[in-house]
Amino acid sequence: MWSSALPILLFHHTFSLSAGGQNTPVPGVRCPCLQVEDWRFPQTARCNITGFDLVQRFSLLKIPEVEKIRNSKGSVIVRLGKVEVSTPTQEVFPHGLPAELTMVFTLLLKKRTAQDQVHLLQVLDQQGEPQFSLDLNGTRRTLSLRWAAGGGAGQREDLIGCEFSGEGAGSLFDGRWHKAVLSLQVGVASLYVDCSSIETHPMGPRAELPQNGLTRLGISASTAAPAPLEVQQVMVYCNPAVGIQEVCCEIPGAWLFCWALCCIGQKQNGAAL
Ligand SMILES: *[C@@H]1O[C@H](CO)[C@@H](O)[C@H](O)[C@H]1NC(C)=O
Ligand SMILES: *[C@@H]1O[C@H](CO)[C@@H](O)[C@H](O)[C@H]1NC(C)=O
Repeated sequence: MWSSALPILLFHHTFSLSAGGQNTPVPGVRCPCLQVEDWRFPQTARCNITGFDLVQRFSLLKIPEVEKIRNSKGSVIVRLGKVEVSTPTQEVFPHGLPAELTMVFTLLLKKRTAQDQVHLLQVLDQQGEPQFSLDLNGTRRTLSLRWAAGGGAGQREDLIGCEFSGEGAGSLFDGRWHKAVLSLQVGVASLYVDCSSIETHPMGPRAELPQNGLTRLGISASTAAPAPLEVQQVMVYCNPAVGIQEVCCEIPGAWLFCWALCCIGQKQNGAAL
């Protein structure tokens, strides 16, 4: 079963990335420093994390129509669906996005949303056309990524992308909490679900996203209305490796991986002292 067989593989991947010194932010784009909660990262991986906390950037905790639920296991749970969550991209990503990054969603899809088609996160241009879109298709039980094509002029209109359709992506629609981590490196996109599922697809060059449109979260593709969903975390890290160093301790069922990662992280830290 994927949930028990894959942690070992991811485990190896995680440590070989961090050991390779790829923890430093990608140069060229100014990414703000992020305060991350101690429990999210094992001791060894917690230095100099940069990126964007979209719960803060969209001011979700301050919007009265957004219900907040206290949560003993992780961050505050934010219940979306009553009001459109949409903000000028300049306020969300003031200096654009780096070429390589990780997106992390800790989310729960309500039954109605799980059967719908939802734009989880989108960056639109000034005309309202998506230049980046991360979409859930409840009919196909897939997560798909589309991004404006980079490279030569003339193909600016095109979106390139890939679809994650395996068992791991399908589990996002089961009505439980999950952590979906999407790592974008030059040439490849990889999906991790609950720290254990791995699916990787090749991806061509991506364009810079426009700064003069809107960025929005959780819109139903069928009705264009806000989609009911709950999130604990929506994060963009300016590093393709850092997201997979996050533990999944808030996700029921991911405890084995979480325990192993925390334990070995502490041991490594102890040995270094
Ligand atoms: C963290 O950032 C500080 C200041 O920018 C820098 O001096 C330090 O070397 C960085 N540490 C790591 C492990 O990258
Ligand atoms: C979702 O999948 C169904 C079934 O394959 C397809 O008809 C529909 O167009 C897809 N929706 C989107 C938004 O891609």
